Amino acid sequence: MVDMDKIVSLCKRRGFIFQSSEIYGGLGSAWDYGPLGVELKNNVKRVWWRDNVHLRDDMVGLDAAITMHPKVWEASGHVASFSDPFTGCGDCGRHYRADQIIDAIWNSRWFRAFNKMLEGPAAKKDPRKAIENWIDSEGKKLAPNFPRNTVAEDVRLPLENANDPKFLQLLRALAHSSNSNDMGFLCPNCGSGKLSSPKPASLMLETFLGPVQETATKTYLRPETAQGIFVNFDNVLQSMRKKLPFGIAQIGKAFRNEITPGNFTFRTREFEQMEIEFFVMPGTDEEWHQKLVDRRFAWYQQYGIRGDNIRQRVHDRDELAHYAKGCVDIEYLFPMGWSELEGIANRTDYDLKQHSQHSGRALEYFDEDTKQKIVPYVIEPSAGADRSTLAFLVDAYREEEVRGEKRVVLNFHPEIAPIKIAVLPLLKKNDQIVETAKKLTADLRKRWYTVYDDTASIGRLYRRQDEVGTPFCITVDVQTVGDDKAGADEKVTVRDRNTMGQVRVAMAELPAVMEKLMAGQWAEIHAQHGVSKD
Ligand code: GAP
Repeated sequence: MVDMDKIVSLCKRRGFIFQSSEIYGGLGSAWDYGPLGVELKNNVKRVWWRDNVHLRDDMVGLDAAITMHPKVWEASGHVASFSDPFTGCGDCGRHYRADQIIDAIWNSRWFRAFNKMLEGPAAKKDPRKAIENWIDSEGKKLAPNFPRNTVAEDVRLPLENANDPKFLQLLRALAHSSNSNDMGFLCPNCGSGKLSSPKPASLMLETFLGPVQETATKTYLRPETAQGIFVNFDNVLQSMRKKLPFGIAQIGKAFRNEITPGNFTFRTREFEQMEIEFFVMPGTDEEWHQKLVDRRFAWYQQYGIRGDNIRQRVHDRDELAHYAKGCVDIEYLFPMGWSELEGIANRTDYDLKQHSQHSGRALEYFDEDTKQKIVPYVIEPSAGADRSTLAFLVDAYREEEVRGEKRVVLNFHPEIAPIKIAVLPLLKKNDQIVETAKKLTADLRKRWYTVYDDTASIGRLYRRQDEVGTPFCITVDVQTVGDDKAGADEKVTVRDRNTMGQVRVAMAELPAVMEKLMAGQWAEIHAQHGVSKD
């Protein structure tokens, strides 16, 4: 698995993702998509929309406003209960999600160094002495308040499992705290301060509409796109005459005042969601929940996510959101470990009923068969556009050795790849080659995003395109346009990113051939027109 630093560095170097406001020192919780990143993310959103809206009879789309009536957030329960517990360090001022503190300590510099020391020969021989020595040397810098007298002789035991009660006991001991209700832990960042008792922190980002900042004008930037769908349920039903079961899909920005944004674009305060609210007859909800979990799980793999890197995780009862009866997360093996990519929840009739009650408007469906009004149940597949984009990036990353040199490849599915085709003239001083290559680029662009590049040697141009995941390169050479010795053969070389194999194809046939290549038929085309590797 590639580490995140490599992905962050490639993203910056090749124009995928930049730190927000970088020239002012950057904003840790926001990222900007560069020229290739915007193509990549747009492709993810485009295929999601096509597969979930255009290719289905039972789905329609919506694009609701980000700012909504403040009562929406009272009715939805977000004002009262959309919060995470947080704890903070009195010394360095860093804040943490209290429910993720064990992970934060486990991954802290001081804890990793301490752990490494315990693995070493000195600690195996005399743990007590090795610990003391560590406290006086490395520990002094990394965790100045690491207490000398509280480390048990058998510390090595609990370190094998972060959830082991003995481990928690050890951590408390390290912070001189025996009270299990008190966080009491040593700060993961500075190793000096003690963490405060956990308190809830609202994740809602407040804003004020209009020139006067007073209670009457206060609302929130939406923390999920879902509520825009619920409040429009009746509008869509009446205007589109849909019958149950049917779904409404929406892609849009959401905002959360996350306590610990991080891991690149994985957790940010501003992000994009791709959500579906699928309305079903009560009683058929569990069956639909399973169907939608299966469908969404298959979707990621259809666009190249490797089966070994994706899994489903059923929520325990105590993890469920206030509106959910059940939830299955689709998790991806990100560089920092298995983490949520998408949640598929059974939201029951909670939201429609809440909005009916708070607005006084009935949000119901008339069932022609039973001649009764019912409140539909809702299954909600809720994906992150940024997290999906990150997963596609991480999953596509490969390093290979080709003729003694490192080749970095982003092995994107052609539908996801930012650039589909790069046209490369073999000789940039030959006017006929350049003219033909530019004309070819202009023609291909009408169907696929195609770029022209003549700024380096052909080998280097191939590597550049490999690194940004362009599935096919086309070279125009002397044979294509002809010279004094031979007439033009009107053919070009198409090179496949994954195999580095090449085929020679007549320009007139190119649109039909490219269509097949984009559909994954490289082997067939290679068998017909194959040449060699670059
Ligand atoms: N409407 C349900 C809902 O919002 P969620 O599990 O809180 O459920 C759904 O969010 C998805 O939105 C997540 O699986 C993730 O992909 C994305 N997401 C949530 N918070 C995020 C954040 N702070 N940064 C980036 N993506 C986030």
